[in-house]
Amino acid sequence: MRSLRSGLVTLVTGLTALGALLVAAPGAQAADTPLRDLAAAKGKVIGSAVNPAKLTGTYGDIAGREFNSVTPDNAMKWESVEPSRGSFNWAPADQVVSFATAHNQQVRGHTLVWHSQNPGWLANGTWTQAQLSSILQDHITTEMTRYKGRIAAWDVVNEAFNEDGTYRSTIWSNGLGQDYIAQALTWARAADPGAKLYINDYNVEGVNAKSTALYNLVKSLKERGVPIDGVGLQAHLILGQVPSSLQQNIQRFADLGVDVAITELDIRMQLPATDAKLAQQAADYKAVMDACVAVSRCVGVTVWGFTDSDSWVPDVFDGYGAATPYTENFAPKPAYYAIAGSLGGGTTQPPGDGCTAVYSVVNQWSTGFTGQVRISCSGGSLSSWRANWTFGAGQRVTQAWNANCTQSGTAVTCSNASYNGTVPDGGSVTFGFNGTWSGSNPAPVVTLG
Ligand code: G3I
Repeated sequence: MRSLRSGLVTLVTGLTALGALLVAAPGAQAADTPLRDLAAAKGKVIGSAVNPAKLTGTYGDIAGREFNSVTPDNAMKWESVEPSRGSFNWAPADQVVSFATAHNQQVRGHTLVWHSQNPGWLANGTWTQAQLSSILQDHITTEMTRYKGRIAAWDVVNEAFNEDGTYRSTIWSNGLGQDYIAQALTWARAADPGAKLYINDYNVEGVNAKSTALYNLVKSLKERGVPIDGVGLQAHLILGQVPSSLQQNIQRFADLGVDVAITELDIRMQLPATDAKLAQQAADYKAVMDACVAVSRCVGVTVWGFTDSDSWVPDVFDGYGAATPYTENFAPKPAYYAIAGSLGGGTTQPPGDGCTAVYSVVNQWSTGFTGQVRISCSGGSLSSWRANWTFGAGQRVTQAWNANCTQSGTAVTCSNASYNGTVPDGGSVTFGFNGTWSGSNPAPVVTLG
């Protein structure tokens, strides 16, 4: 046994370098009722930013099942849709809109007027005020017209303010003056009168200098009759730091006669994630959800990526991450159950729900192969386990170790040995097997049951 185990380790290491076939599978179902059904019953939106390139497999399944709204993470930004002047690339944005149509979801358009992620030709050009104005009007009109009738809400203007409440110095404020915001909203209304028009920003979740500047702007736009339907609070938050004035702030915007949406929620923590941090994160997610649920004009909450494998946080904040409601392996975290609970669903995480199984072929020769399955838990645990899969190309298990495996036709079931049924939160168990194959040896998806 000892030599087999150490042999396996060597093989795994070798094959990882070669790029092993790895398939991650979610464990038991996340919850009885998907978040989107819970949200709909409360008249709320629950959304996620999505990356169109990933909208297949488990990522696509969860995005379609759990959310009733999607926001393209980057695909509708100016640099994505018009990388060279007059040359448009709509494919990724179209993909998100088609996915939403197929899954009966709203789309949140993001974003038309921003200082960041503008194409080089625009950012580096020299423009007169008249030229810049017409470039911006064309951009808003072209993009909104393309998706007219299919976008529920647009983040028309993004991140217009500095932290102290002064206007941010940008290509727009510098070139057009502060009234670029009113102009953009007016052009946006003309392009798609059915879309809700939002101003969106970060660090405006609590009552502070920046959110008060935003409040004063919205108030004055309303007084002037400029079209403005909503305010987006991005909510890129830090563990344990949900502003205590969040609900009060949402309410004061609502009282101006506009909708409010939490548009980019994530709650980052210093890595590694621990049980205590995940519990705090769940409490924080709940606090944000509860604040939105409590205010009727808060239309809903969008998370900025639903899985830790698809979050901007680790790229930008060194040492931070785990900011979303699902693990990197698509297991729902305590935060997921907190969202469900706030929307009226079950709050108890089933024991195996934070656990996933990953199948890999660690060595393969002409007629045989060695496979392994690694069961890991994060935000859940197991006291016994059974891993199931179906071979798709006639493979057969001939011998297993660290599990009791049986095969009937194409269906394989492996249950724990007497000594390795327990998988603690944060721990993992691996078992291995030899098998036969011919023709091809595709990796199956493993489910835990
Ligand atoms: O497309 C290039 C690729 O060609 C290149 O190889 C790669 C190398 O770094 O970069 C790719 O571009 C990245 C881009 O996302 C597309 O994936 C940029 O580096 C990266 O900086 C960019 O990050 C995006 C960020 O906005 C930019 O500000 C994040 O994905 C996106 O989630 C994030 O979203 C913003 C919201 O729009 C507004 N509010 C804040 C939020 C988080 O920053």
